Amino acid sequence: MANVAHATGATQAAGLAEPGAKTATRCSLDHPALVRLLQRAYSAERAASFAYIGHAASLRDPQAKSAVKQIEDDEWAHRRHVLAIMRRYGVPVSRWFEGYYYVVGKLIGVSCHVIGRFMPYFFAGKLESGNVCEYFVMMRHFHTLGITEHDAVLHEMGIKEKEHEVYFLAQIENCRWLPWFERVFAWGKNASRNDVDLARKHAVEDSHLYCANYHRSPSDDDLANR
Ligand SMILES: [Fe+2]
Ligand SMILES: [Fe+2]
Repeated sequence: MANVAHATGATQAAGLAEPGAKTATRCSLDHPALVRLLQRAYSAERAASFAYIGHAASLRDPQAKSAVKQIEDDEWAHRRHVLAIMRRYGVPVSRWFEGYYYVVGKLIGVSCHVIGRFMPYFFAGKLESGNVCEYFVMMRHFHTLGITEHDAVLHEMGIKEKEHEVYFLAQIENCRWLPWFERVFAWGKNASRNDVDLARKHAVEDSHLYCANYHRSPSDDDLANR
């Protein structure tokens, strides 16, 4: 089992470190894949927020704007949750991931103004589809260390990413471009990168049933080795 400090009360129930709580000064998670996953998720959440800022700004409909703004806020919250977990174990923020995903997020945000209505929704949905499993894989890695206290917050974030995926798909499900893009990019009405079904959700304690066959793409693995 990992050598960890313990939070108390409500923050412990949520699986989060208390604000201002003493954190480990060196990484106490003996799990390189988990450490990289946390570091990447922390930075990628900011990239998603930047992308949604651009996406919301490119939309005219006030309701659509506020829905994307809400999703942006969810991603900022995820970044805070992941950072709290990282601090708990002394996991450092990766400068490489921070820089890389900063540029990626800004570029996507700007591109939303020039690529029309369909593509920002499509690629956001595809991205969210992959993000879902990242949190359930993270949970499984923690379990190999005997750590279950973050299960609730990881489950909540994984389900929230699924809600984002479903929302984005709903915005383009009747678009004539969707079948073509689905064939090329393997995401759409009949293809997803996760097996989460919001109509039949597993309880937190059964979350290990999710994403059993999930594999990240080769380009993700390249990044993870940085
Ligand atoms: Fe997120
Ligand atoms: Fe998301």
